[in-house]
Amino acid sequence: MNEPRPIPLIDLTAQLSRVRTEIDAAVERVLTSGAFVGGPDVGALEREFAAFCGVSHACAVANGTDALQLALRAYGIGPGDEVVTVANTFIATGEAILLVGARPVFVDVEERTHTLDPERLEAAITPRTKLVLPVHLYGHPADADAVGAIAARHGVPVLEDAAQAHGASWRGRRAGALGHAAAFSFYPTKNLGACGDAGMVTSDDAEFVARVRQVANHGAGTHRYDNVVLGTNSRLDSLQAAILRVKLARLERWNAERAERAALYAKALAGAPGIVTPREREGARSAWHLYTIRSPRRDALAEHLRVRGIGSAIHYPKPIHLQASMAAAGGRPGDLPVCERLAREVLCLPLYAELPLEDLARVAAEVRAFAEAATGAGA
Ligand SMILES: Cc1ncc(COP(=O)(O)O)c(C=O)c1O
Repeated sequence: MNEPRPIPLIDLTAQLSRVRTEIDAAVERVLTSGAFVGGPDVGALEREFAAFCGVSHACAVANGTDALQLALRAYGIGPGDEVVTVANTFIATGEAILLVGARPVFVDVEERTHTLDPERLEAAITPRTKLVLPVHLYGHPADADAVGAIAARHGVPVLEDAAQAHGASWRGRRAGALGHAAAFSFYPTKNLGACGDAGMVTSDDAEFVARVRQVANHGAGTHRYDNVVLGTNSRLDSLQAAILRVKLARLERWNAERAERAALYAKALAGAPGIVTPREREGARSAWHLYTIRSPRRDALAEHLRVRGIGSAIHYPKPIHLQASMAAAGGRPGDLPVCERLAREVLCLPLYAELPLEDLARVAAEVRAFAEAATGAGA
């Protein structure tokens, strides 16, 4: 009998092959133009991505970590300041806060959406709080209205970590337009992914985006060699911008294909004992960056899939308040019970716009077989 074909967690070449001709043409155009940094494609991408999100301004930067860090610097956040955020996220969220010299204050998340729990937000805010930084984890938007109302009551802005949420929406508004500003990553595996590193800051606040742009370009003032604030080099190169423009034109369709696959998983896994499937909160449209189920026997399930050639991943096995690099934030086990439990149970199944439906059916069947065998339900 033939071994079944392996099913990877993600296949980036499948997406690229759909737009390869246009990407080749875009790359050729940039190479011929000689405009490798800056140039018309960067400005065009900024305008097109801002329009996609429903905001008026955007600044392209080198990666999503810089997008967060430069936004924090544009707010003037630094030593002595606190930023309220969550711990079930990629390390970059916490890194950006510590790198500007501020302290991350972690609050627990809602079990259902894995996003910042507005009910716990108020208690985390102190006179030192300068920003609230919710993360739209796995593509599901945080409750922007509740978070925004509490932050506004305390006079602090909301910066969205929208690195996983291109195209997600909450009550009709898109990620990128749900707070005062947002930070995006275009890391290759993201819903909108470059062929390298890239990032973006979006906001309706023109002055704020101008400050981000200034810090991202050596703190330059009106003249290139007039460096008025301490900056850095975090410019996006034209090749990545040109590639991202080609893909941005397809993002809505690709997100719809992800949503269709998420719905198929939900149907195929309905009632599987011990398996919790992700569901959108009413009013929310997930970008379905990751399809993340929960199982109390997560590690055994991952192994069951691995020996059958099926890729899966744990995002993230250790909440960031427990990472050694975040020790300065003073997190301890038990601080965030929901987040810590989710970290023991989450497992991401293969999901990308081109995921063949027969592969999806096989993944779901294997998850169900594992779940039923584990409880004896299938016997
Ligand atoms: C939630 C979150 N924040 C920040 C980042 C950082 O983005 P980048 O890898 O582009 O620096 C990522 C992605 O890797 C992410 O998933």
